[in-house]
Amino acid sequence: MSQEQTPLFSGLVAHAKKNPTQFHIPGHKKGAGMDTEFRQFIGDNALSIDLINIGPLDDLHQPKGMIKQAQDLAAEAFGADRTFFSVQGTSGAIIAMIMAVCGPDDKIIVPRNVHKSIMSAIVFSGAIPVFIHPEIDKELGISHGITTDSVAKALKQNPDAKAVLVINPTYFGISADLKKIVEIAHSYHVPVLVDEAHGVHIHFHDQLPLSAMQAGADMAATSVHKLGGSMTQSSILNVREGLVSAKHVQTILSMLTTTSTSYLLLASLDVARKQLATKGKELIDKTIKLSQSIRKRINEIDHIHCVGEEILGSKATFDYDPTKLIISVKDLGLTGYEVEKWLREKYNIEVELSDLYNILCIISLGDTDTEGDLLVNALNELAIECEHRVGQIEPLEVLLPEIPVLALTPRDAFYSETEVVLFEESEGRIIAEFVMVYPPGIPIFIPGEIITKENLHYIRKNLEVGLPVQGPEDDEIKTIRVIKEYKAIQ
Ligand SMILES: Cc1ncc(COP(=O)(O)O)c(C=O)c1O
Repeated sequence: MSQEQTPLFSGLVAHAKKNPTQFHIPGHKKGAGMDTEFRQFIGDNALSIDLINIGPLDDLHQPKGMIKQAQDLAAEAFGADRTFFSVQGTSGAIIAMIMAVCGPDDKIIVPRNVHKSIMSAIVFSGAIPVFIHPEIDKELGISHGITTDSVAKALKQNPDAKAVLVINPTYFGISADLKKIVEIAHSYHVPVLVDEAHGVHIHFHDQLPLSAMQAGADMAATSVHKLGGSMTQSSILNVREGLVSAKHVQTILSMLTTTSTSYLLLASLDVARKQLATKGKELIDKTIKLSQSIRKRINEIDHIHCVGEEILGSKATFDYDPTKLIISVKDLGLTGYEVEKWLREKYNIEVELSDLYNILCIISLGDTDTEGDLLVNALNELAIECEHRVGQIEPLEVLLPEIPVLALTPRDAFYSETEVVLFEESEGRIIAEFVMVYPPGIPIFIPGEIITKENLHYIRKNLEVGLPVQGPEDDEIKTIRVIKEYKAIQ
């Protein structure tokens, strides 16, 4: 089969055209049994291929027909031995990837600034995390990746680890020297698992960081939906055979996956792969040029800085993806969140994320000069609005969450007897829940860590400016769940 073909999408359309009488789920029956307003909005075409795993349409759990062909084409396009489609996002693929290599009490080497799905997988599997401190960028108030030195050190101390997990690239588009990390891990016969949520496109252009498969990694969970043109929730899990078994990965993925897989999502993966494989280079080329021109224009605006290649050169900033615009706004005396709201209210612009000091804008295959102009004009106006107060602003103190000490494994903490205490009085206790700001979804606390004063202050600051702090049962975060302590009876 050629990369121009879309066996799954074309197979579904051909099936729908035959217009079979359906005595199977989904019960909306091509939309006929559905609310009319929604049906008209979504359209009959989409509903006609919202199908299920009947004989002619293959089955994601045991693919032998059109889904297998689509996955095989994806494997070829991504340079993998096997590719599995996920209808549960990259979160689902990550959990399967980790559970495929780690069981209870197995060690996994991970950076501490990981997405919550990685910590969930660690709780589910019972694995013991060996944390590596990511490199911290004090200027931007963000964490980057991990260094080759720290991976070498972690492996030297833990040669029995079952895997090394790397985020490549980070949410902000920064990459470590993944190839070197793979070489080091493989010298211990330890597989490298990559969280490639933000890097589906990097495989298709040589001016972008190396993809997981190009760097020789063993598995990569990749969000095709984020930057590769498929529908939200559709991702892939790429596997290189050798240190991991694709068959075992498939079994675990199947255990974690709904039996009612969405064919709309699966078909969108098929067509996204075709576009990336056949036109990706040309489309990404345009995207890179567009982002570089927007970056240059933003950097002409006073007091706003859009990060570029000057960020490279530290041990953890080996390469970067220029299509991510990290825009530092702290010199305007505003938080990233205030700028996010300002852009929404004044210009109807929605950014990818904001934090205390930055906003992050993503330029993708779907953008043109028009969107770029809007963003640059809006930021220009914002800078003019802030001009009168810039000289009077106290420089913002850049806060970063400390990495707390892990007193219990995340799984033991999660399943321990717990009690609820006041947030303000929780210092020194062992936390039993996650606390994170989403996006980016990187935990400030994970179950099992000792609560510190500095991290309580960091959470308070995020709450004060209105950033979305999530995780605890009490969504106002006035209380927090900790491991129960039994005091001696007086
Ligand atoms: C670094 C990272 N990994 C994994 C994920 C999970 O991806 P998904 O939303 O496709 O489940 C995200 C989502 O934001 C992420 O930022």
